[in-house]
Amino acid sequence: MGNICAVVVDPRAPGRLVIQEVPEPVPLPNEALVRVHAFSLNRGEVRRSLAAAAGWRPGWDVAGTIEAAAADGSGPPVGARVVGLLPSAAWAQVVAVPTTNLAEIPSSVSFAQASTLPVAGLTALYTLEKGGNLLDRAVLITGASGGVGYFAIQLARLAGARVVGLVHQEAHARVAREAGANLVVAGDPVGAAAHGPYQLILDSVGGKTLGAALSMLARRGICVNFGITESDMTTFNVQQFYMTGGATLRGFFLFDELGANPAGPNLARLVDLVANGKLRPCIEIEQPWTSIGAVAQDLYARRYPGKAVLLVQG
Ligand SMILES: NC(=O)c1ccc[n+]([C@@H]2O[C@H](COP(=O)([O-])OP(=O)(O)OC[C@H]3O[C@@H](n4cnc5c(N)ncnc54)[C@H](OP(=O)(O)O)[C@@H]3O)[C@@H](O)[C@H]2O)c1
Repeated sequence: MGNICAVVVDPRAPGRLVIQEVPEPVPLPNEALVRVHAFSLNRGEVRRSLAAAAGWRPGWDVAGTIEAAAADGSGPPVGARVVGLLPSAAWAQVVAVPTTNLAEIPSSVSFAQASTLPVAGLTALYTLEKGGNLLDRAVLITGASGGVGYFAIQLARLAGARVVGLVHQEAHARVAREAGANLVVAGDPVGAAAHGPYQLILDSVGGKTLGAALSMLARRGICVNFGITESDMTTFNVQQFYMTGGATLRGFFLFDELGANPAGPNLARLVDLVANGKLRPCIEIEQPWTSIGAVAQDLYARRYPGKAVLLVQG
C-alpha cells in the first residue's frame, strides 16, 4: 500500500492545517475509491480544526472521479464523475466513500460547483423540509450570506416562500440578494421582526440572533437551529415563545439526519438543480489546495461570503 497526500492538523502551521503524506485508504466492500479533484470548506470543520489535536484530518465535501468501484457492485462505475460526503478526512488526493453518500455529476456541472453541495446544500435542503409546504410562507434565514444560507435562500424561493435573509456584515448583504432573498436585513437581528412573523426560521448563528428570532415565529411556526456561529448560549423570552401558540424549536445535525435521509439521492437532486440552472453555488474563492491554511483562516474570519473551493493536484 502506498501513500497519498492529505490535509492534516499541525498546530504549528498557519491556520493549523498542512498537506502531509498519509497511508492510501483501503475501501470497505460498500465503498468506492474516489480521486479527488475539488473540495469545499465548511465553517464547522474549520472550527473543529482550530481545536483538534495534531494529526486530525478534516474534510466532509469532495468531488472527483471513481478510481475503483465498490466491491459489492453498488454505486457508480470506474471513471464516473461524482460528488460525495464523508464524516471526516475527505481533504485528500484519494478517499474511500460509502456508495450511499455518492451521486454522479454530469459534465455540465464542474467539480468545483459539485463540491459545494454536500454539507451546505444538504443542510439547507433538509432543514427547509422541516417546515413542510413553503408556498407563500414567510421564511427567515440567518447566516444568509454563508455557505448554507446561500443555498437555503434559493431552495426556499424555489419552494414558493417569501424569504428574508439576515446577514452580519452589510458588505455581504449583496450575496443574500443575489441568491434571491426578497429582503435582506444586515446587523441587528431585531430588524427582521418588522417583516415577520415567520412560519419557518432557519438559524445557524445561535446567540442573541436565535433569542431574537424565537420571538418572530408565527402561530405554529418552527425554528430549526443548526449552528452557533455567533454563540452557543442563548437567552430568550419564554413567555413570548409559548404564547405564540404551538411554536417549535427544533435542533438539526446533518450527520444524525443522514441515518434516516441518505445523502446520495438528495445530492443527486441538488446536482440536477445545478445542471438545470435552478441552483447556483456561490464560489468566492477557488484556489489550489496548497492555500488551505490561509483560506481556512479567511473563512473563519468571514473575510469573504459564500463558499471556498480548493483544487487538488496529483
Ligand atoms: N448542524 C449541522 O449539521 C450543520 C450543518 C452545516 C452547518 N452548520 C453550522 O451552521 C453555521 C453556518 O455554516 P456555514 O458553512 O454556512 O458558515 P459560513 O459560510 O461561515 O457563514 C456564516 C454566516 O453567519 C454570519 N455570521 C458570522 N458571524 C456572525 C455573528 N457574530 N452574528 C450573526 N451572524 C454571523 C455570516 O454573516 P457575514 O457574511 O455577514 O459575516 C454568514 O452569513 C456554522 O456554525 C456551521 O457550523 C451546522
